[in-house]
Amino acid sequence: MNLIFTHHPADALNTIVKEMSPAGIAIITDTNTHKLCAEPLREACPALADAPIITIKAGDTHKDITSLTSVWEQMQAAGLTRKSAVVNVGGGMVTDLGGFAAATFKRGIRFVNAPTTLLSAVDAAVGGKTGINFGGLKNEIGTFRDADAVVISTSWLATLPSSELRSGYAEMLKHGLIDSPEEYRRLIGFDISAADFTGLLPLVERSVLVKKRIVEQDPHEHGLRRALNLGHTAGHAFESMAMRRERPVPHGYAVAWGLVVDLVLSHMLFKFPSDMLRELAAYVRRIYGVMPISCDDYPALLELMSHDKKNATPGAINFTLLEAPGKIKIDCIAEKRDIEAALDIFRDLMGI
Ligand SMILES: NC(=O)c1ccc[n+]([C@@H]2O[C@H](COP(=O)([O-])OP(=O)(O)OC[C@H]3O[C@@H](n4cnc5c(N)ncnc54)[C@H](O)[C@@H]3O)[C@@H](O)[C@H]2O)c1
Ligand SMILES: [Zn+2]
Repeated sequence: MNLIFTHHPADALNTIVKEMSPAGIAIITDTNTHKLCAEPLREACPALADAPIITIKAGDTHKDITSLTSVWEQMQAAGLTRKSAVVNVGGGMVTDLGGFAAATFKRGIRFVNAPTTLLSAVDAAVGGKTGINFGGLKNEIGTFRDADAVVISTSWLATLPSSELRSGYAEMLKHGLIDSPEEYRRLIGFDISAADFTGLLPLVERSVLVKKRIVEQDPHEHGLRRALNLGHTAGHAFESMAMRRERPVPHGYAVAWGLVVDLVLSHMLFKFPSDMLRELAAYVRRIYGVMPISCDDYPALLELMSHDKKNATPGAINFTLLEAPGKIKIDCIAEKRDIEAALDIFRDLMGI
Protein backbone atom coordinates (compact mmCIF):
# COMPACT_ATOMS: atom_id res chain seq x y z
CA MET A 1 0.00 0.00 0.00
CA ASN A 2 1.20 3.43 -1.01
CA LEU A 3 0.82 5.71 2.03
CA ILE A 4 1.42 9.42 1.50
CA PHE A 5 1.36 12.35 3.94
CA THR A 6 1.20 15.71 2.26
CA HIS A 7 0.04 19.31 2.36
CA HIS A 8 -0.80 18.99 -1.37
CA PRO A 9 -3.24 16.09 -1.72
CA ALA A 10 -4.32 16.94 -5.29
CA ASP A 11 -0.74 16.70 -6.59
CA ALA A 12 -0.18 13.40 -4.78
CA LEU A 13 -3.44 11.93 -6.09
CA ASN A 14 -2.67 13.07 -9.60
CA THR A 15 0.65 11.21 -9.55
CA ILE A 16 -0.91 8.10 -8.03
CA VAL A 17 -3.81 7.92 -10.49
CA LYS A 18 -1.45 8.50 -13.45
CA GLU A 19 0.73 5.61 -12.26
CA MET A 20 -2.30 3.35 -11.80
CA SER A 21 -3.53 4.26 -15.32
CA PRO A 22 -6.96 2.75 -14.65
CA ALA A 23 -9.49 1.97 -17.36
CA GLY A 24 -11.96 4.50 -15.96
CA ILE A 25 -12.09 6.07 -12.54
CA ALA A 26 -14.87 7.44 -10.31
CA ILE A 27 -14.87 9.49 -7.13
CA ILE A 28 -17.07 8.37 -4.21
CA THR A 29 -18.00 11.06 -1.69
CA ASP A 30 -20.89 12.26 0.52
CA THR A 31 -23.26 15.21 0.31
CA ASN A 32 -21.03 17.38 2.55
CA THR A 33 -17.66 16.52 1.07
CA HIS A 34 -18.96 16.71 -2.53
CA LYS A 35 -18.63 20.50 -2.71
CA LEU A 36 -16.03 20.94 0.03
CA CYS A 37 -13.52 18.35 -1.10
CA ALA A 38 -14.42 16.20 -4.14
CA GLU A 39 -15.12 19.00 -6.64
CA PRO A 40 -12.06 21.11 -5.73
CA LEU A 41 -9.98 17.94 -5.88
CA ARG A 42 -11.27 17.02 -9.35
CA GLU A 43 -10.56 20.54 -10.58
CA ALA A 44 -7.00 20.47 -9.25
CA CYS A 45 -6.24 16.99 -10.47
CA PRO A 46 -5.99 16.49 -14.27
CA ALA A 47 -5.96 12.69 -13.90
CA LEU A 48 -9.45 12.95 -12.36
CA ALA A 49 -10.84 15.53 -14.80
CA ASP A 50 -13.32 13.08 -16.36
CA ALA A 51 -14.17 11.15 -13.19
CA PRO A 52 -17.89 11.04 -12.35
CA ILE A 53 -18.63 11.89 -8.73
CA ILE A 54 -20.83 9.33 -6.93
CA THR A 55 -22.43 10.98 -3.90
CA ILE A 56 -23.86 9.21 -0.84
CA LYS A 57 -26.06 10.99 1.73
CA ALA A 58 -23.89 12.16 4.63
CA GLY A 59 -24.14 10.52 8.06
CA ASP A 60 -23.44 7.07 9.43
CA THR A 61 -27.09 6.00 9.05
CA HIS A 62 -26.44 6.05 5.30
CA LYS A 63 -23.53 3.60 5.54
CA ASP A 64 -26.10 1.02 4.53
CA ILE A 65 -27.18 -1.40 1.84
CA THR A 66 -29.34 1.22 0.09
CA SER A 67 -26.38 3.57 -0.42
CA LEU A 68 -24.19 0.63 -1.39
CA THR A 69 -26.63 -0.54 -4.07
CA SER A 70 -26.80 2.97 -5.46
CA VAL A 71 -22.97 3.17 -5.56
CA TRP A 72 -22.71 -0.18 -7.38
CA GLU A 73 -25.36 1.01 -9.87
CA GLN A 74 -23.48 4.22 -10.55
CA MET A 75 -20.18 2.34 -10.91
CA GLN A 76 -21.89 0.15 -13.50
CA ALA A 77 -23.47 3.15 -15.25
CA ALA A 78 -20.04 4.82 -15.38
CA GLY A 79 -18.80 1.77 -17.32
CA LEU A 80 -16.17 0.78 -14.74
CA THR A 81 -14.41 -2.51 -15.48
CA ARG A 82 -12.11 -4.83 -13.54
CA LYS A 83 -9.22 -2.56 -14.56
CA SER A 84 -10.90 0.58 -13.22
CA ALA A 85 -10.46 2.27 -9.85
CA VAL A 86 -12.29 4.53 -7.41
CA VAL A 87 -11.10 7.34 -5.16
CA ASN A 88 -12.96 7.66 -1.84
CA VAL A 89 -13.03 11.29 -0.76
CA GLY A 90 -14.66 11.73 2.65
CA GLY A 91 -14.75 10.63 6.26
CA GLY A 92 -14.81 7.08 7.59
CA MET A 93 -18.35 6.57 6.35
CA VAL A 94 -17.19 7.11 2.76
CA THR A 95 -13.91 5.18 3.04
CA ASP A 96 -15.70 2.21 4.69
CA LEU A 97 -18.56 2.07 2.19
CA GLY A 98 -16.53 3.10 -0.85
CA GLY A 99 -13.82 0.58 0.06
CA PHE A 100 -16.44 -2.16 0.36
CA ALA A 101 -18.08 -1.16 -2.94
CA ALA A 102 -14.67 -1.35 -4.65
CA ALA A 103 -13.71 -4.61 -2.90
CA THR A 104 -16.87 -6.30 -4.18
CA PHE A 105 -17.46 -4.72 -7.61
CA LYS A 106 -16.43 -7.26 -10.27
CA ARG A 107 -14.78 -9.25 -7.44
CA GLY A 108 -12.65 -6.29 -6.49
CA ILE A 109 -11.22 -3.24 -8.20
CA ARG A 110 -8.47 -0.91 -7.00
CA PHE A 111 -9.27 1.99 -4.69
CA VAL A 112 -7.54 4.99 -3.17
CA ASN A 113 -8.61 6.63 0.09
CA ALA A 114 -8.41 10.39 0.55
CA PRO A 115 -9.69 10.78 4.14
CA THR A 116 -11.14 14.23 4.92
CA THR A 117 -11.86 13.89 8.66
CA LEU A 118 -9.20 13.47 11.33
CA LEU A 119 -10.85 10.23 12.46
CA SER A 120 -10.73 8.71 8.99
CA ALA A 121 -7.13 9.89 8.49
CA VAL A 122 -5.81 8.29 11.67
CA ASP A 123 -8.14 5.32 11.90
CA ALA A 124 -10.67 4.35 9.22
CA ALA A 125 -8.69 4.87 6.00
CA VAL A 126 -5.80 2.58 6.94
CA GLY A 127 -5.99 -1.00 8.19
CA GLY A 128 -8.08 -2.83 5.62
CA LYS A 129 -11.48 -2.94 7.31
CA THR A 130 -14.28 -1.99 4.92
CA GLY A 131 -18.01 -2.47 5.27
CA ILE A 132 -21.50 -1.25 6.02
CA ASN A 133 -24.01 -1.30 8.89
CA PHE A 134 -26.73 -3.93 8.53
CA GLY A 135 -29.73 -5.25 10.49
CA GLY A 136 -29.31 -2.56 13.13
CA LEU A 137 -25.69 -3.56 13.79
CA LYS A 138 -22.58 -1.49 13.08
CA ASN A 139 -20.12 -2.80 10.50
CA GLU A 140 -22.05 -6.07 10.29
CA ILE A 141 -21.17 -6.79 6.65
CA GLY A 142 -17.66 -6.19 5.35
CA THR A 143 -14.31 -7.40 4.14
CA PHE A 144 -10.66 -6.98 4.96
CA ARG A 145 -9.24 -5.21 1.92
CA ASP A 146 -6.37 -2.71 1.92
CA ALA A 147 -6.62 0.43 -0.14
CA ASP A 148 -4.04 0.52 -2.96
CA ALA A 149 -3.04 3.98 -1.81
CA VAL A 150 -3.99 6.39 0.97
CA VAL A 151 -3.31 10.12 0.66
CA ILE A 152 -3.42 11.81 4.05
CA SER A 153 -3.55 15.56 4.39
CA THR A 154 -4.58 17.85 7.22
CA SER A 155 -5.40 20.53 4.61
CA TRP A 156 -8.96 19.14 4.39
CA LEU A 157 -9.62 19.72 8.07
CA ALA A 158 -10.16 23.50 7.96
CA THR A 159 -13.89 23.04 7.22
CA LEU A 160 -14.40 20.23 9.72
CA PRO A 161 -16.55 21.08 12.77
CA SER A 162 -14.34 21.36 15.86
CA SER A 163 -16.23 18.51 17.58
CA GLU A 164 -15.24 16.17 14.70
CA LEU A 165 -11.63 17.33 14.98
CA ARG A 166 -11.55 16.65 18.71
CA SER A 167 -13.26 13.31 18.15
CA GLY A 168 -10.48 12.15 15.79
CA TYR A 169 -7.81 13.38 18.19
CA ALA A 170 -9.03 10.90 20.83
CA GLU A 171 -7.94 8.04 18.54
CA MET A 172 -4.55 9.76 18.25
CA LEU A 173 -4.28 9.91 22.05
CA LYS A 174 -5.08 6.20 22.03
CA HIS A 175 -2.33 5.48 19.48
CA GLY A 176 0.13 7.58 21.50
CA LEU A 177 -0.63 5.64 24.68
CA ILE A 178 -0.25 2.33 22.84
CA ASP A 179 3.06 3.45 21.32
CA SER A 180 5.40 5.04 23.86
CA PRO A 181 5.77 7.63 26.64
CA GLU A 182 7.42 10.03 24.14
CA GLU A 183 4.54 9.84 21.68
CA TYR A 184 1.97 10.20 24.42
CA ARG A 185 3.77 13.32 25.76
CA ARG A 186 3.92 14.87 22.29
CA LEU A 187 0.14 14.51 21.93
CA ILE A 188 -0.67 15.81 25.41
CA GLY A 189 1.58 18.79 24.60
CA PHE A 190 -0.38 19.68 21.44
CA ASP A 191 -3.45 21.87 21.76
CA ILE A 192 -6.01 20.44 19.35
CA SER A 193 -8.38 23.32 20.13
CA ALA A 194 -5.89 25.74 18.49
CA ALA A 195 -6.32 24.11 15.04
CA ASP A 196 -2.73 24.33 13.79
CA PHE A 197 -3.14 22.02 10.79
CA THR A 198 0.46 22.32 9.62
CA GLY A 199 1.75 21.28 13.04
CA LEU A 200 -0.81 18.48 13.17
CA LEU A 201 0.38 16.65 10.04
CA PRO A 202 3.58 15.12 11.55
CA LEU A 203 1.56 13.97 14.57
CA VAL A 204 -1.01 12.39 12.26
CA GLU A 205 1.78 10.67 10.36
CA ARG A 206 3.23 9.09 13.50
CA SER A 207 -0.26 8.12 14.65
CA VAL A 208 -1.11 6.35 11.38
CA LEU A 209 2.23 4.52 11.52
CA VAL A 210 1.38 3.20 15.01
CA LYS A 211 -1.87 1.74 13.69
CA LYS A 212 -0.21 0.42 10.51
CA ARG A 213 2.53 -1.34 12.49
CA ILE A 214 -0.01 -3.09 14.71
CA VAL A 215 -2.30 -4.07 11.83
CA GLU A 216 0.63 -5.48 9.84
CA GLN A 217 1.49 -7.78 12.75
CA ASP A 218 -2.12 -8.93 13.20
CA PRO A 219 -4.24 -8.00 10.16
CA HIS A 220 -7.30 -10.10 11.09
CA GLU A 221 -7.48 -9.20 14.79
CA HIS A 222 -6.50 -12.48 16.41
CA GLY A 223 -4.39 -10.82 19.12
CA LEU A 224 -2.25 -7.68 19.06
CA ARG A 225 -4.74 -5.69 16.94
CA ARG A 226 -6.98 -5.75 20.01
CA ALA A 227 -4.55 -3.20 21.49
CA LEU A 228 -6.45 -0.73 19.32
CA ASN A 229 -9.49 -1.32 21.55
CA LEU A 230 -7.87 0.73 24.32
CA GLY A 231 -10.55 3.08 25.65
CA HIS A 232 -13.28 1.37 23.66
CA THR A 233 -14.89 -0.98 26.23
CA ALA A 234 -15.96 1.83 28.55
CA GLY A 235 -16.07 4.18 25.54
CA HIS A 236 -18.71 2.14 23.68
CA ALA A 237 -20.76 1.94 26.89
CA PHE A 238 -20.67 5.76 27.27
CA GLU A 239 -21.54 6.13 23.57
CA SER A 240 -24.55 3.78 23.87
CA MET A 241 -25.72 5.41 27.11
CA ALA A 242 -25.58 8.86 25.49
CA MET A 243 -27.59 7.48 22.56
CA ARG A 244 -30.21 6.01 24.94
CA ARG A 245 -30.50 9.41 26.63
CA GLU A 246 -31.09 10.88 23.15
CA ARG A 247 -28.03 13.08 23.63
CA PRO A 248 -25.57 11.37 21.29
CA VAL A 249 -21.87 12.22 21.62
CA PRO A 250 -19.21 11.93 18.90
CA HIS A 251 -17.47 8.54 19.01
CA GLY A 252 -14.11 10.08 19.97
CA TYR A 253 -15.55 11.91 22.98
CA ALA A 254 -16.76 8.58 24.37
CA VAL A 255 -13.34 7.07 23.58
CA ALA A 256 -11.57 9.92 25.40
CA TRP A 257 -13.65 9.28 28.54
CA GLY A 258 -13.13 5.54 28.03
CA LEU A 259 -9.36 6.09 27.92
CA VAL A 260 -9.50 7.71 31.36
CA VAL A 261 -11.50 4.76 32.75
CA ASP A 262 -9.03 2.31 31.18
CA LEU A 263 -6.05 4.14 32.64
CA VAL A 264 -7.69 4.12 36.09
CA LEU A 265 -8.10 0.34 35.76
CA SER A 266 -4.53 0.11 34.42
CA HIS A 267 -3.35 1.99 37.50
CA MET A 268 -5.36 -0.28 39.82
CA LEU A 269 -4.33 -3.56 38.19
CA PHE A 270 -0.92 -2.85 36.63
CA LYS A 271 0.40 0.25 38.43
CA PHE A 272 0.10 2.57 35.41
CA PRO A 273 1.81 5.80 36.62
CA SER A 274 -0.67 8.01 38.47
CA ASP A 275 0.89 11.31 37.29
CA MET A 276 0.21 10.36 33.65
CA LEU A 277 -3.32 9.30 34.53
CA ARG A 278 -4.03 12.68 36.17
CA GLU A 279 -2.47 14.51 33.23
CA LEU A 280 -4.64 12.66 30.70
CA ALA A 281 -7.77 13.19 32.79
CA ALA A 282 -7.09 16.96 32.91
CA TYR A 283 -6.53 17.09 29.12
CA VAL A 284 -9.68 15.08 28.45
CA ARG A 285 -11.74 17.22 30.80
CA ARG A 286 -10.54 20.41 29.09
CA ILE A 287 -11.02 19.25 25.49
CA TYR A 288 -14.01 16.87 25.76
CA GLY A 289 -15.83 18.11 28.85
CA VAL A 290 -17.61 15.48 30.90
CA MET A 291 -20.50 13.12 30.45
CA PRO A 292 -22.73 13.38 33.51
CA ILE A 293 -22.96 9.97 35.17
CA SER A 294 -23.78 9.01 38.74
CA CYS A 295 -23.46 5.70 40.60
CA ASP A 296 -27.08 5.01 39.60
CA ASP A 297 -25.78 4.60 36.03
CA TYR A 298 -23.23 1.89 36.92
CA PRO A 299 -25.54 -1.14 36.44
CA ALA A 300 -26.51 0.08 32.95
CA LEU A 301 -22.88 0.87 32.05
CA LEU A 302 -21.71 -2.58 33.25
CA GLU A 303 -24.53 -4.22 31.32
CA LEU A 304 -23.50 -2.37 28.16
CA MET A 305 -19.84 -3.31 28.71
CA SER A 306 -20.73 -6.98 29.18
CA HIS A 307 -22.49 -7.00 25.80
CA ASP A 308 -19.50 -5.53 24.00
CA LYS A 309 -18.63 -7.70 21.01
CA LYS A 310 -14.97 -7.81 22.11
CA ASN A 311 -15.85 -10.11 25.06
CA ALA A 312 -14.83 -13.69 24.27
CA THR A 313 -16.44 -15.20 27.40
CA PRO A 314 -20.14 -14.43 27.93
CA GLY A 315 -20.66 -12.14 30.93
CA ALA A 316 -16.94 -11.33 31.36
CA ILE A 317 -15.82 -7.79 30.60
CA ASN A 318 -12.69 -7.56 28.53
CA PHE A 319 -10.33 -4.57 28.49
CA THR A 320 -7.11 -3.57 26.81
CA LEU A 321 -4.95 -2.04 29.55
CA LEU A 322 -1.44 -0.62 29.94
CA GLU A 323 1.38 -1.03 32.45
CA ALA A 324 2.76 2.21 31.04
CA PRO A 325 2.52 3.93 27.63
CA GLY A 326 3.80 1.35 25.11
CA LYS A 327 3.42 -1.62 27.53
CA ILE A 328 0.19 -3.22 26.38
CA LYS A 329 -1.89 -5.87 28.18
CA ILE A 330 -4.59 -7.27 25.90
CA ASP A 331 -7.50 -9.50 26.98
CA CYS A 332 -7.65 -8.31 30.59
CA ILE A 333 -10.80 -9.40 32.37
CA ALA A 334 -11.82 -6.94 35.07
CA GLU A 335 -14.14 -7.80 37.97
CA LYS A 336 -17.37 -5.82 38.31
CA ARG A 337 -16.28 -4.38 41.65
CA ASP A 338 -13.00 -3.14 40.12
CA ILE A 339 -14.90 -1.50 37.28
CA GLU A 340 -17.23 0.20 39.75
CA ALA A 341 -14.24 1.42 41.77
CA ALA A 342 -12.65 2.68 38.53
CA LEU A 343 -15.86 4.57 37.66
CA ASP A 344 -15.79 6.20 41.13
CA ILE A 345 -12.20 7.37 40.56
CA PHE A 346 -13.09 8.44 37.00
CA ARG A 347 -15.90 10.66 38.34
CA ASP A 348 -13.53 12.11 40.91
CA LEU A 349 -10.86 12.89 38.31
CA MET A 350 -13.41 14.44 35.96
CA GLY A 351 -15.10 16.42 38.74
CA ILE A 352 -18.51 14.83 38.13
N1 LIG B 1 -12.46 0.86 8.87
C1 LIG B 1 -12.02 1.14 10.07
O1 LIG B 1 -11.03 0.59 10.56
C2 LIG B 1 -12.73 2.20 10.86
C3 LIG B 1 -12.14 2.72 12.01
C4 LIG B 1 -12.80 3.73 12.68
C5 LIG B 1 -14.03 4.19 12.24
N2 LIG B 1 -14.58 3.64 11.12
C6 LIG B 1 -15.87 4.12 10.61
O2 LIG B 1 -15.73 5.48 10.24
C7 LIG B 1 -16.98 6.13 10.39
C8 LIG B 1 -16.78 7.40 11.17
O3 LIG B 1 -15.89 8.23 10.47
P1 LIG B 1 -15.97 9.81 10.55
O4 LIG B 1 -15.92 10.23 11.96
O5 LIG B 1 -14.97 10.33 9.60
O6 LIG B 1 -17.48 10.09 10.09
P2 LIG B 1 -18.16 10.61 8.75
O7 LIG B 1 -17.52 10.04 7.55
O8 LIG B 1 -19.62 10.38 8.92
O9 LIG B 1 -17.83 12.18 8.79
C9 LIG B 1 -18.34 13.00 9.82
C10 LIG B 1 -19.03 14.23 9.23
O10 LIG B 1 -18.06 15.13 8.71
C11 LIG B 1 -18.38 15.48 7.38
N3 LIG B 1 -17.10 15.79 6.73
C12 LIG B 1 -16.17 14.93 6.28
N4 LIG B 1 -15.08 15.60 5.88
C13 LIG B 1 -15.33 16.91 6.05
C14 LIG B 1 -14.58 18.08 5.85
N5 LIG B 1 -13.31 18.05 5.41
N6 LIG B 1 -15.17 19.28 6.14
C15 LIG B 1 -16.44 19.33 6.64
N7 LIG B 1 -17.18 18.25 6.88
C16 LIG B 1 -16.64 17.04 6.60
C17 LIG B 1 -19.12 14.31 6.85
O11 LIG B 1 -19.91 14.63 5.74
C18 LIG B 1 -19.97 13.91 8.06
O12 LIG B 1 -21.09 14.73 8.15
C19 LIG B 1 -17.92 5.16 11.06
O13 LIG B 1 -18.75 4.58 10.06
C20 LIG B 1 -16.98 4.10 11.62
O14 LIG B 1 -17.59 2.83 11.72
C21 LIG B 1 -13.96 2.66 10.44
ZN1 LIG C 1 -12.75 4.25 17.85
